[in-house]
Amino acid sequence: LNLDKAIRDQEGYIDSKIFTDEELYRLEMEKVFQHTWLFVGHESSLPKPGDYILNKMGEDEVIVVRDRSNRVRVFLNRCTHRGNKVCLFDRGSQKSFTCTFHGWQYNIEGGLMGLPQGESYAGSLKREEWGLKEVPKVSSYGGLIFASWDEEICSLDDYLGDIRWYLDRMLLKPFLGGIEVLPGRGKYMMPTNWKMMADNFMHDEYHVPITHVSFFRALMHMSQNGGDNWMCGNQFDRGFNVLSTSPAGVPHAAGLVEFWNDPRPDSSAQVQPLNDRAIAERLGPEAVEWLQERERRMKEFMEEEQHKVHGSANWTIFPNLSLILMPGALRASGIIQWHPKGPMMLEGWQWFAVEKDAPDVVKRYGASVLAADQAPAGMITTDDTENFDRMYKNVISKGVEERPFNYAMPGIDLQRFYEEFREAGLDLEALPGTPLPVFTEEKALAFYQYYRDLMKKER
Ligand code: FES
Ligand code: FE
Repeated sequence: LNLDKAIRDQEGYIDSKIFTDEELYRLEMEKVFQHTWLFVGHESSLPKPGDYILNKMGEDEVIVVRDRSNRVRVFLNRCTHRGNKVCLFDRGSQKSFTCTFHGWQYNIEGGLMGLPQGESYAGSLKREEWGLKEVPKVSSYGGLIFASWDEEICSLDDYLGDIRWYLDRMLLKPFLGGIEVLPGRGKYMMPTNWKMMADNFMHDEYHVPITHVSFFRALMHMSQNGGDNWMCGNQFDRGFNVLSTSPAGVPHAAGLVEFWNDPRPDSSAQVQPLNDRAIAERLGPEAVEWLQERERRMKEFMEEEQHKVHGSANWTIFPNLSLILMPGALRASGIIQWHPKGPMMLEGWQWFAVEKDAPDVVKRYGASVLAADQAPAGMITTDDTENFDRMYKNVISKGVEERPFNYAMPGIDLQRFYEEFREAGLDLEALPGTPLPVFTEEKALAFYQYYRDLMKKER
């Protein structure tokens, strides 16, 4: 497949074969997944030495473990003897990892320690040469741990670039105590290519009012009938997108960043966030007190402009990490990985994050809202899955439709868009990255442009 012909970013055309081609997929495992920073976990999942979680880097399973000197290390979950897994559980705490095949045993620094029938090797096996394969680069930002197989890769800070300014809002550092990732993760299979979901979270606000209409109707219904109306309903008027190209040239994006302090009259808002009284009634005065204190600390520690946009958002960090912060005051956030499983299948993993300092009632409330909406069996996710299932069935059928996918929406006039926000009190042009209108496909094109360059790079 010729990627210059398949990805025509100048025209906004993308050949659907990049989502189905078997050979291209194999190449991605090396060219993309071995030369980017990949999310492998959050520090709060590994509080003490020996704590570990499993994750995936591309199709390779890795063990993320805190070693005895408190350093987070990442190892391939593969016994060096004959390739069996050495760790079979998603999470836990271990002093060592023992293979279930012939019993080779590794310590949490990856070294080969136990060797059953060791004398039978007659001194020929050098243990120091047969430790677990270690991922050479590990780094973290705001508690999010990333790893890379590429020893030459740029620093994580240079990789992330401007997107950090927007992500800080979700990660709550250094404003508050950060987030805490709940144990376990939701997993679900989706019959689509991993790039499709990364791209969907990166830019596709276009589908939201259509695909998710029943979700918004349900919210409206709830709010009109005295239920929990935890969400602002006016995001499309107040939101904007951000394309951020890092110093290393990697495109990331934030979508539907909410302009929280927008003083414009709330004409189209049909659903209002819970007010203090409603929160006190449901969750008790402790929750209200904490929310007020949090708001005070945010004002104190955030940059002024950062505070103005501290509402909900979703992000995609290239290549396959998406994050979402639910709207409303009592919010939880989701950390979602689009793990590739062949060209037309992915495994979505979703981690739930709550605010570490929050009272338990707030954590539980936030997590339950997220679970009902953006989660494996949530209303939002299932809406998406249905569309992708139908798309998949169409794109694998060969030959009849020769036209490429259409990604050619540039968005409304940028200067006019900036002007409107300026009038409402927010200078978008002064913010990090490139703020863009809500409905545009520019960000997806930046994603595929970079993807093409990475795929073509000779190493
Ligand atoms: Fe692990 Fe043999 S495969 S000990
Ligand atoms: Fe969606």
